Amino acid sequence: MIDLHSHLLPGVDDGSPDLEVSLDMARIAVADGIRIMACTPHITPSLYENDGAQIREAVAALAERLLEAGVDLYLVTGADVHLAPKLIERIRSGRVPTVADSRYFLLEAPHHVAPPRMEEVIRDFRSAGYVPILTHPERLSWIDAHYGYIKRMTAAGAWIQLTAGSITGTFGHQPRYWSERMLDEGLVHLIATDAHNTGRRRPAMSKAREAVAARLGEAEAENLCFARPLGIVRNRAPADIVAAPAFAAAGTATT
Ligand SMILES: [Fe+2]
Repeated sequence: MIDLHSHLLPGVDDGSPDLEVSLDMARIAVADGIRIMACTPHITPSLYENDGAQIREAVAALAERLLEAGVDLYLVTGADVHLAPKLIERIRSGRVPTVADSRYFLLEAPHHVAPPRMEEVIRDFRSAGYVPILTHPERLSWIDAHYGYIKRMTAAGAWIQLTAGSITGTFGHQPRYWSERMLDEGLVHLIATDAHNTGRRRPAMSKAREAVAARLGEAEAENLCFARPLGIVRNRAPADIVAAPAFAAAGTATT
């Protein structure tokens, strides 16, 4: 499996606090069947001011430590990007990294307030050549009142990433309900761990994969946990990556 959302880098955000924990997290990931992991620290203005150069350096350093420790996990760069002004320019300049330097990047919406004009923002990203992957919408507190808005974001061209733990119930009833609903409606493009530690939020997704295989079949489970993430890492065009079921028939650019 390929995990494109993790807070594996030590000491850069609220994820892994130090190298020992990062190595333990990497071992957990490998034991769970994860072979490629994106290191995607938060970039949140005035809270986590990580930037592209620093993230690249930290990923290269951690990759060396993994090699020394004999942990067979391939790392790629990325960031968990909070919605903020001038994002397109910051991505273009490399200050905000995309996933594995592809056209795809993780976009985190505010957790407690539905942001305005998101359809327009997403269309702007798509016209600029980037594909925003909306991270864990199932965990946003405003999803109950604004599910239609999230669906319109996907129609505008946002991809959706669910967190594995939401599917297995780690975050409680509501995130599980919305995960299942979005999966059933065919809106989900990929599953990732969004791992922060070795405990409740550890880098594991095999249980979620099993649950999805039972719900939607083995082929879609593979798409969610491997094929689409691989297409992203390889920077294939959206139209050349197997579409999420809701968009498969339409065959539009919004896939
Ligand atoms: Fe995250």
